[in-house]
Amino acid sequence: MSTQIPKQTEKTEETEHEGPSQGDVRRSEKRRRAAERREQRQAEEAERAKTDDDTVEFRVFRYDPEVEGKQEPRFDTFYVPFTKGMTVLDALIYARDTYDSSLTFRHSCRQAVCGSDAMFVNGGQKLACKTQVSDLEAPVRIEPLPHADVTKDLVVDMEHFYDQMEAVEPYFDTDEYPDGELEEQRQTRANREKIKMSTRCIWCGACMSSCNVAAGDNEYLGPAAINKAYRFAMDEREGADRKQERLEIIEQEHGVWRCQTQFSCTEVCPKDIPLTEHIQELKREAVKNNLKFW
Ligand code: FES
Repeated sequence: MSTQIPKQTEKTEETEHEGPSQGDVRRSEKRRRAAERREQRQAEEAERAKTDDDTVEFRVFRYDPEVEGKQEPRFDTFYVPFTKGMTVLDALIYARDTYDSSLTFRHSCRQAVCGSDAMFVNGGQKLACKTQVSDLEAPVRIEPLPHADVTKDLVVDMEHFYDQMEAVEPYFDTDEYPDGELEEQRQTRANREKIKMSTRCIWCGACMSSCNVAAGDNEYLGPAAINKAYRFAMDEREGADRKQERLEIIEQEHGVWRCQTQFSCTEVCPKDIPLTEHIQELKREAVKNNLKFW
């Protein structure tokens, strides 16, 4: 799997220079000395950590298109003291706070709910906040999600993923409304059970990143978007016309029929959604709909 680095565009704009003032020189000298002291502290800390048995080595992908000297992708090594229950996200936060404040990654909820910290850990798509360091072989290699443009370090551009999600029109649309303005639109227990797993998607993009078909076909809707279509198409409250339209969307050239049932999406999904099964079920639904035998 490859990590995609967007092409650099050369900056041609020239800025006018009047020469730095004495104040500027003093400030930049102060900054330089502070940076030197920080680097020295970090180097000492890293040296101490290296010899500690309870320290884990992390090799973290780095890339910053906006800073001179950091535009070449590379791996930085961080030594992080292991603590019981430590997750990959905890380790990254430690490395950022202790060694390099420019280390960039997304995170928010820290409990596998927001889906913002999916990354490639030791060769597999994982949520950093849900992955225990004790379950990993060291040195732990951390990279951004493959098959997506890298914005900076471990942050990838999710725009394409969101476009695909939007393409299946992920919202509920019914033909009938219950009597009474405040009446709930009820669903049977059996139907709720059927769609239960599909509602667990947290939009992390791990499935899309693991899918070889999506890697080769940029227009493929992808497992997450198809699962989202499943969530609504299989909901008994969805209107018949809407379901028909939804089946047409997922049957398009880059829809369900592209899936080669490789199960990679199902394997990496941090919420255990049976994505491949859902895609197959939608294929069956599409066939039934077209042949009208049922
Ligand atoms: Fe929210 Fe990991 S930080 S899913």
